[in-house]
Amino acid sequence: MDGAQIQYTANSLESQWMPFTGNRDFKISPRLVVKSEGVYLTDHKGGQVIDGSSGLFCNPLGHGRREIADAVHAQMIANDYCSPFGMGHPGAFALAERVAQRLPEPINHVFFVNSGSEAIDTALKITMAYHRARGEAHRVRYVSRERAYHGVNIGGISLAGMVKNRETFPHVMPNVVMMRHTWTGDETFEKGQPQHGVELANDLQRFCETYGGTTISAVFVEPVAGSTGTLVPPVGYLERVREICDEHGILLVFDEVITGFGRIGAPFASQKFGVTPDIITMAKALTNGAIPMGAVAVRDEIYETVTNASPENAIEFFHGYTYSGHPAACAAGLATQQIIDDEGLFERVVENEAYFLDAIWSLKDHELVKDLRGIGFMAGVEVHHDGVPGRRGTQLQKDLFWNGCHVKFTGDTAIVAPQFIAEHKHIDEMVDKMRKTLDQHLHA
Ligand SMILES: Cc1ncc(COP(=O)(O)O)c(C=O)c1O
Repeated sequence: MDGAQIQYTANSLESQWMPFTGNRDFKISPRLVVKSEGVYLTDHKGGQVIDGSSGLFCNPLGHGRREIADAVHAQMIANDYCSPFGMGHPGAFALAERVAQRLPEPINHVFFVNSGSEAIDTALKITMAYHRARGEAHRVRYVSRERAYHGVNIGGISLAGMVKNRETFPHVMPNVVMMRHTWTGDETFEKGQPQHGVELANDLQRFCETYGGTTISAVFVEPVAGSTGTLVPPVGYLERVREICDEHGILLVFDEVITGFGRIGAPFASQKFGVTPDIITMAKALTNGAIPMGAVAVRDEIYETVTNASPENAIEFFHGYTYSGHPAACAAGLATQQIIDDEGLFERVVENEAYFLDAIWSLKDHELVKDLRGIGFMAGVEVHHDGVPGRRGTQLQKDLFWNGCHVKFTGDTAIVAPQFIAEHKHIDEMVDKMRKTLDQHLHA
């Protein structure tokens, strides 16, 4: 059945409890998307909405990719499900190999999950299994950062640095300490990496001095903090974090759920910044967002240490999901990776990065704009709050949608992340619509 033919008969919005949404507010003025194709969405009133955030940073190849739909369809007919525990199917091995080829050496082992949040929980458990296998189970502390977003499961919330995501949920993992975030406010409107701020990495050194480096298991960082509004790491910052981890035997985890698969102009942020972590989490663009999937990739030494610590015929890692490496997700992932290569999409980001960032920086003169940050195809447009933090951002996101542009806001910051297939005219359209909407707020 063609997507356009699908008919829905719901006449009430009451039953669904929507995630990260003002449920009551939404029902007053619902924003429903009934079709998506290329860089455009169609709303339920027939309006065309350009997708300025690649959905939630997950469809860089554009919407409605036939190749992905066909691959998933064929897979569903051939083999719709197989238990991932003690069994397998060829697609999962093929996709793991494909992903491993994109990763920095020596990160070559890939564990499949179904979301970014599950990737974080899985990464946490891998760090525990690794230290235990090495006789270092006393490494019980974790380090994260203020303003961090690592998904919404209890593991991710324990590492969360955004207050709204954790204040309601006090029952989290103990022993997590927070480094400062890297937005100092001293350097605004800086494209790419800020020149100053490397010393913020020394928070980790202080934790080592306070708690003992040998008690720390792992440090989790988003190489570019995404959901909080695009905080690009200062020059030398990630290198310094890596150095301190090495000095103390601490594992470094890069959460690349947003930055993975080309978002900042390299397959992973690790390659862009020339810093290799021990573990990389990913999701979103792995399948172009068409089927839920995430993954955790680890250095060979981590895989080997954990697997070699058990008897030959034993299960080595007591962890996994019913849908780990689901055949449909693997088919979507393989088709996605093929399109990336066939269409040179990582290269397109490199080619168009300057155009995109210049277009965003054209908003610098706007009275409501407080700061601009960006790298690759990812930018934060922070506006001055209106007295109540977050209120203007929430309203802007809604108004922008009705002006024909979808952009995800966190608080008062728009996170603009075009699809890699976006052309210059599409970028212009996004920025024009943003300016128009900002103007409406200025004169409101
Ligand atoms: C860095 C990071 N980690 C984890 C997640 C959670 O991913 P999911 O929503 O798929 O659980 C996100 C989602 O935006 C993310 O940006």
